[in-house]
Amino acid sequence: MNTGLFGQPLTTASPATGLGRRDHLTFRGNVALGRYGWLRLTPAYSLHLVRELLKQSGPDEIVLDPFSGTGTTPLACASLGIRCDAVDINPFLVWLGNLKLTRFDDGTARAVKSAATRIAEKAHDPRPAAWKPDLHQIEKWWDGPTLHALAAICDGIRNPKRERASGVSDLLSIAFCRVMIQTANVSFGHQSMSFKRNGANGGLLAEPPGGAGARIAAAFLAAADEVADSLQVEPPTAQCRVVLGDSRDLGAALPAGKRRYTAVITSPPYPNRMSYIRELRPYMYWLGYLSDGRAAGELDWKAIGGTWGCATSLLNTWTPNGHGEIPFPQFDRIIRDISAGHALLGRYVHKYFEDIKGHILSLRKVLAPGARCHYIVGNSKFYDTMLPVEGVYAALFEDAGFVDVRVETIRKRTSKKELYEFIVHVRAPSLARRAT
Ligand SMILES: C[S@@+](CC[C@H](N)C(=O)[O-])C[C@H]1O[C@@H](n2cnc3c(N)ncnc32)[C@H](O)[C@@H]1O
Repeated sequence: MNTGLFGQPLTTASPATGLGRRDHLTFRGNVALGRYGWLRLTPAYSLHLVRELLKQSGPDEIVLDPFSGTGTTPLACASLGIRCDAVDINPFLVWLGNLKLTRFDDGTARAVKSAATRIAEKAHDPRPAAWKPDLHQIEKWWDGPTLHALAAICDGIRNPKRERASGVSDLLSIAFCRVMIQTANVSFGHQSMSFKRNGANGGLLAEPPGGAGARIAAAFLAAADEVADSLQVEPPTAQCRVVLGDSRDLGAALPAGKRRYTAVITSPPYPNRMSYIRELRPYMYWLGYLSDGRAAGELDWKAIGGTWGCATSLLNTWTPNGHGEIPFPQFDRIIRDISAGHALLGRYVHKYFEDIKGHILSLRKVLAPGARCHYIVGNSKFYDTMLPVEGVYAALFEDAGFVDVRVETIRKRTSKKELYEFIVHVRAPSLARRAT
């Protein structure tokens, strides 16, 4: 039988039964490992899976990840000595990805630890910090004393600016984010973040003598130590980077001389109405990448599949116009069925695939002939209507001239029996085929 990368039958039909949830094939498998584990962000996918795909790479490989997210693909490439460029539309994720890809010298870890010791003292300062983020209902996220201590640490990292150039303040920002999210009244029990029912700080850390100041100072020092120590784990050895850009216009986003990628390993947003901006808001507000709700919605509207804030109202007036038909036989029927339950959702799915079609058309122009592409995608269900996301991707690639299209089922995603994750494997056409 024709089997795929993960020993499962390759299929374009409904997924094989008996594929359980396999945590090593999700971001959960990355959490303990060096820079991959810095922040636990739900957009991330499995390092194990990326490494399996990179086993096919030869010495001339140049990898592209058009949806970089937390930078799993470029970091895996960088630590294996494989060149890689990545693109993301979210400036916070571009910063995070590039920080992960930075080579630090031996002195950096020591500088992080010593700066953290100095800054942690600020958590005890009773004076209010000059600044705290304008996050909607911030009091739901942190109680007053915790917020006070966090704001003092954040202020200590931002000022003075002398550590900025060396990357020390960026690394301290990662340590800060770990503490900020660990002490927030949010839970990660579900696919996305939600507020906990009772109690600020979720009882994650017991209150020591000295109150919130001592608790936050201790947590910050521990986090800074972890970040500093992680720098030695599988450090990057190849030049890789993440650029800010729109994967629907890769020609504009990528450096002109380097548009000959031999492989694409990526995971685009899924059409499941999960908003990355919603998830990433606390990080983005604290680090200054967002300052108000309107900007959050506008950024989510630019992202494929975004649904946060004004992205929803803009979708209300959206009409198909971009790249013509979606070449999947049942596509119009599926959109009609979803729209019958909820018109906005029908529009959401339609726009999602128009955007993906735009991406695939722009991708072809930056690939070397015969380049292999691996898209990790998940299917969705809207009320009673199944959305065979993997099948629509396969059809879009075929329509754009890609060859050797096949779909591999890799794991069950949730407790819902129909929801799976797939790899859509395709190849860019060879030179001969391109000419025809
Ligand atoms: C599923 S996540 C990628 C996860 C990544 N593989 C990882 O391990 O972290 C999808 C990413 O696509 C980005 N994105 C959405 N629309 C985009 C666009 N038009 N251009 C570039 N990136 C986009 C989102 O910001 C998000 O980071």
